[in-house]
Amino acid sequence: MAKILIADDDPTILSLLNKILLSKGYEVQLAENGDVAQKLLKTEQFDLLISDIKMEPVDGMQLLKKTRQFRPHVGVIMLTAYATVATAVEAMKEGAFDYIPKPFKIDELLETVKRALDYQRSIAEQISGTPQMEARKYFGNIVAESEQMVNVCEMIKRVAPTKTTIMITGESGTGKELVAEAVHSFSARSEGPFLPVNCAALPETLIESELFGHVKGAFTGAGVNKEGLFEAAKGGTLFLDEINSIPHGLQSKLLRAIQNKKIRKVGGTEEFDVDVRILAASNRNLENMVKEGEFREDLFYRLSVISIDIPPLKQRPEDILPLAQHFIAQELEGDEFPTMDSEVLSILQNYSWPGNVRELQNVIQHCLTFLRDGKITKETLPSKLIVSYEENPGAQNASRIAGGEFEKGKSLKAFLRAKEKEYLKTVIDTMGGDKAKAAKELDISLATLYRKLPEDGQEEQK
Ligand SMILES: Nc1ncnc2c1ncn2[C@@H]1O[C@H](COP(=O)(O)OP(=O)(O)OP(=O)(O)O)[C@@H](O)[C@H]1O
Ligand SMILES: [Mg+2]
Repeated sequence: MAKILIADDDPTILSLLNKILLSKGYEVQLAENGDVAQKLLKTEQFDLLISDIKMEPVDGMQLLKKTRQFRPHVGVIMLTAYATVATAVEAMKEGAFDYIPKPFKIDELLETVKRALDYQRSIAEQISGTPQMEARKYFGNIVAESEQMVNVCEMIKRVAPTKTTIMITGESGTGKELVAEAVHSFSARSEGPFLPVNCAALPETLIESELFGHVKGAFTGAGVNKEGLFEAAKGGTLFLDEINSIPHGLQSKLLRAIQNKKIRKVGGTEEFDVDVRILAASNRNLENMVKEGEFREDLFYRLSVISIDIPPLKQRPEDILPLAQHFIAQELEGDEFPTMDSEVLSILQNYSWPGNVRELQNVIQHCLTFLRDGKITKETLPSKLIVSYEENPGAQNASRIAGGEFEKGKSLKAFLRAKEKEYLKTVIDTMGGDKAKAAKELDISLATLYRKLPEDGQEEQK
């Protein structure tokens, strides 16, 4: 169901809208002012924003502009007690879908909400040619533009509601924890806790008592009864990260906990039931560990009933730009969304990203710290990227443009879309950023150009 953010400094309006929209099955989040709304828009995904116009310190018009910039796929409806034609027109010009004067009739409000959501959906369909556009760009907090990440998200959607244990694999920084969180939040346990535990960070001597708890006097220093993580995650999800670090001796106990949902505290005599779903990740190949006798085969099979593999970032270059924009929006303090020139994009696309998405996030933080006149330029990038680019200029791009490089899992459609975007951007840059001129050169309408550049945030402009 669609997720709606409501921003209004009038608590009665907030609670009224909340009630109305909840009763229609929408997911609703409330913000008591524009500032709170802005923060929520940065960290969470919404389909629609309903915003009051007069608010302090950030007013509805500012919020509207920011939303068009940072979260272009979110539809916006303005709400105001100060209805004047002028503000209404201004809001629509800035890309608001519609405008509702206060006081409003419930039916009219619901009708407008429905129209706005239908409109957003139809725009999304036009862009991607499939009704999956929203899922394509974002799933929960996961940016997913590439075919591979869309598949990962599809998999999450399918397995989240089940009870099964899931193994999440991928290089460091590919988003394993993020995927685990998404599985939790799309499951029936989403109201319960999500507890990530890094098994490698727990000393071997303590790991058993951390996971299962201990009774008073179980060992020196065990002064009181202690609850373990299996108990603490009751009703929720326990994410066992780097599960390969679980000592061999403890693996059978872990298997029993997962299989029979029963645990015994260290030093305890009784077994008791636990209610927790297990997700796991490993940074070593568990199958090889099984072969070498380091990991129990039965536990391996139990854990890997379903596995989700996240490909390294370099294998999904279409995700680089949307991810960069996502991190910019998240980190941004000031008002202006920085521009990124096409050379920066080439450098980002060219880099091999050994640290995957986390490394990209760090690079963006670096760029934002060293912004030049509000622009992300080559000079704002960490030097390792420049060095790698200069040593191997355009290598990846050139071969991709030529179509010479086979990328596993990449469809022809995804390839063509990426190429098309690259060319459009080059033409726009050549025209000094003037999209109207670029459209003319390309012999397409301006509307078509906007539609083809969804990440530029213009696709909903009417
Ligand atoms: N597809 C994505 N969309 C948005 N953010 C992402 C995506 N993938 C990763 N991130 C972000 O990148 C960072 C690293 O992700 P995460 O911690 O989940 O990786 P990991 O695979 O668990 O890494 P490690 O193996 O080092 O523990 C996080 O800040 C995460 O939010
Ligand atoms: Mg992790």
